[in-house]
Amino acid sequence: MAEIFRIIGGRRLSGSAAIPAAKNAVLPILAACLLTDDDVTLSNCPLLEDIENMRRILEKLGCRTERTGRRLTVRTASAASHEMPDGLSKTLRSSIFMMGPLLGRFRKATVTYPGGCEIGLRPIDLHLKGLRVLGVDIREAHGRIDCDGAHMHAGDVLLDFPSVGATENIMMAAVLTPGETTIRNAAREPEIVDLQMFINAMGGRVSGAGSGIVRVKGVKALHGAAYQPIPDRITAGTLLCAAAMTGGEIQLEGARADCMDAVLIKLREAGCLIEASEDGVRLTAPERLRPVDVFTQPYPGFPTDMQAQMMALCCLAGGTSILVENVFENRFNHAAQLVRMGADITIHHRTAVVRGGRLTGARVQARDLRAGAALALAGLAADGMTEIEDIHLIDRGYERLEDTLTSLGAQIRRLGK
Ligand code: EPZ
Repeated sequence: MAEIFRIIGGRRLSGSAAIPAAKNAVLPILAACLLTDDDVTLSNCPLLEDIENMRRILEKLGCRTERTGRRLTVRTASAASHEMPDGLSKTLRSSIFMMGPLLGRFRKATVTYPGGCEIGLRPIDLHLKGLRVLGVDIREAHGRIDCDGAHMHAGDVLLDFPSVGATENIMMAAVLTPGETTIRNAAREPEIVDLQMFINAMGGRVSGAGSGIVRVKGVKALHGAAYQPIPDRITAGTLLCAAAMTGGEIQLEGARADCMDAVLIKLREAGCLIEASEDGVRLTAPERLRPVDVFTQPYPGFPTDMQAQMMALCCLAGGTSILVENVFENRFNHAAQLVRMGADITIHHRTAVVRGGRLTGARVQARDLRAGAALALAGLAADGMTEIEDIHLIDRGYERLEDTLTSLGAQIRRLGK
């Protein structure tokens, strides 16, 4: 029997939780390990399905990886293949940014179209367009993408949209390419800045990440590094919502308030008391949440990865909220499931109108990673019992979410298998 979460709602969450390294920082950093022959160690890496799949991909390419708790060691000296394993690259959409490092190391890369996922088509046209500016010859046929980087050179890339993955791919492809490459209209997410810092820790010369214009000065080779990726701002935001929705209070050790401004501002608008310090972020919930309007945008705008969680919060607010999803074309999978729990939500294209009220427990399905997290939050605040199916999708981005929530006072159990 597939695993489910069973939650009995109505418990106030209080206490503290430590925030692990960000999934969306660790994944591109693991790919970037291919740019050196030396060993790399990464610390504070949570045990997540997506990270374990990325390890499997590196091992299929001939690398060796080791996990000791939250510490990962990557040995790429034995990397021998430039061809991504088909099955795995379908499982892990973000494997598409292996193209850059494979081209950097082998001057060749073969990947398969990652295919869409639950939240949209997830095209890769911006990745391919940017690599072509760097002189990569790309042939696409039969679902495969064959890249020939024999004549790669530096270039001036202008992205039509500040795509996170495309920025990362092109940055990594340029690191070992002679000359200075610029990436304009680059994504500005903190995970891009973290990738820059990791590459520079290995001897790379990347600058401008976070500003929208990334400059990469090609170097001959990179050495190994020991690195701790930034804490996960989406896991942090998710746990803040959990406390806000249950009338609780929470202290997040290691959370970086400076990477979470848009989320913290919205939680303050909803009536939460937020205190940020060197050690992390503290939230105290109001008696009654206030409605808020949310428009997702590329960083530093409100993150699309927090939209589902905020929608769950708005279901409890005293009034009407508007949420507009501007980044992905199909990221309201959680709405129908929240309606099963008594939410009053109407969807018009990319706009959701949420009239706040109460939630009641029900049997619901996680349709994607963040939708699943939003349902867990809703279950914590709902009257009665909620059961969530397909929680393997939640495990992709949250390490033992049930343990973290239990430690904060929630009544949640993982059943099945
Ligand atoms: C990254 O995905 C994250 N994943 C996503 O997190 C996150 O939602 C997204 O950035 C936006 O912040 C990782 O970092 C592993 P994009 P990515 O390229 O790189 C369109 C999660 O829940 N686009 O910035 O795929 C695309 O269709 C995941 O942790 C093109 O049109 O995001 C989308 O509408 C979900 N052509 C928009 O841009 C392209 O070539 C943003 O995509 C590439 C993207």
